[in-house]
Parts: sequence; C-alpha cells; structure tokens
Amino acid sequence: MSRRPFLAGNWKMFKTGDQAVAFIEEFVPLIGDLTDRDAALAVPATALQRAADAAKGSPVIIGAQNLHWENEGAFTGEISAGMIVSAGAKMAIIGHSERRQYFGDTDEWVSKKLSAALAAGLLAVVCVGETLAERESGRTFEVLATQLKGSLADFKAQDEKNLILAYEPVWAIGTGKTATKEEAQETQAFIRKELGSLGLPAEAIRILYGGSVKPDNAQALMAQPDIDGLLVGGASLKADSFAKIVKYGN
Ligand code: 13P
Repeated sequence: MSRRPFLAGNWKMFKTGDQAVAFIEEFVPLIGDLTDRDAALAVPATALQRAADAAKGSPVIIGAQNLHWENEGAFTGEISAGMIVSAGAKMAIIGHSERRQYFGDTDEWVSKKLSAALAAGLLAVVCVGETLAERESGRTFEVLATQLKGSLADFKAQDEKNLILAYEPVWAIGTGKTATKEEAQETQAFIRKELGSLGLPAEAIRILYGGSVKPDNAQALMAQPDIDGLLVGGASLKADSFAKIVKYGN
C-alpha cells in the first residue's frame, strides 16, 4: 500500500508569532505545489493563529505541540482541542518524548489527548520511542509495545486516516545522532506489526521517523519501506533546510 509521505516540523519552544509568519512567507514559495506529499508545522500555542492565517491557501498544515483532553476547565496553562481548531490549526502532536520526560505525560494521558484530538477533527501525531538505557538493555521492542498499547487504548479503527505515529528514539533527539536507516526501519516495521496485533489497519497508518533528521539524511530514511514521513526538530527552524527535507528526492 502506498502511504502519502508526511513531512512535519516541530518547532518546540522556538519562534514568536512574527517569526512564524516570516518563516511561512519564505517557506511556502520554496516548496511550491505539493502534489505527492504533505507538509506540516507544529508551532508554539502563541503562534498558532498567526501561523494558520499565514498558511491559508498553501499546502502547509499547521498544528499544535500538545493539548489537554478536556474541552475547557480550570487547567491553568493548558489549551484544548477546540481552541486549537478555532485558531485555524488542523493537527496536534501528542506524547512527544519531551512531554513524557519533563512534563509527566503518561500513556494514559496520551490516550485521552488522542481521543480529544480526534473528536475535534484534528490530525493526531502520536509519538513513541525508547531511551538510550532501554535500547542498550535490549528492551526497545518491549517499551514500544507498552507505549503503543497504552497510548492507543481507546483508539477506534475507523479513525485511522487521522492517526499518524512517530517513532522518535529519545537518544537521537537533538543529539546529532540519527538512528541508522536500518535501525529506524527495523523498529518501524515492529511498530507496524504491533499496530496490526492491536487490531488496527496497520498498512494504512503512516509512521514517521524523528531524531536528528537533516536535509542530507532525509532521502535515505524516506527510502525505507516502513518510514512514511519525518518529524523534524532543529532542521525545521530554517525555511531553506526544512524545504529541502520536504522536497527530498526532487
Ligand atoms: P531534532 O530533529 O532536533 O533531533 O528533534 C527531533 C524531534 O524531537 C522532533 O519532534
């Protein structure tokens, strides 16, 4: 089955509204018409509205980096799926390893956030990945299986068009140490197999790789059969480098 490539940037805690608009104005002409792939940017909450306005009429999908599962309430500092939609955004990253590591996101929270995102019509990018200690102790597959089972606990198969998985080995994030294409492929094939054993249409679900993706390794990663897209941190902060990644192979 051919899965449409999905190239996403995750800006993390970088860029103001003004900087987001300037980036998009530079980036959109660089990528041109995207007939055979998707491009997305997950921006800080304070830049959502302005980024979505700036991207209007372009193929660029704007998304949030996190959300709360409740629609509204006394949850200081949080934003809801409805707020993300009303800002004009169409996507949310859920369960990024930095959320799991520094802000206490658990698989149970990821599952609740996923349900809220899908109910609001957002495209949800659910992240999983092992730490260096877990990989070195041979526990990668066990850790990923647990994360997938917990994170997708309430996921209904009819929503598969709006679910994207991202494999981000924690040891490859921001370290310059990319997983080799063979390591990423092997792990992502395992993730696809697990999706199947959870009763999900695994062949239809896109699985992204993230962790020190750069313009010069994007094409080799994308040539792997189970890598359907990339989730890019540092190299998505400059319009020309992210445009090169989006246009890999051209
Ligand atoms: P880097 O591309 O900076 O390693 O970050 C990866 C990441 O965490 C994307 O979500």
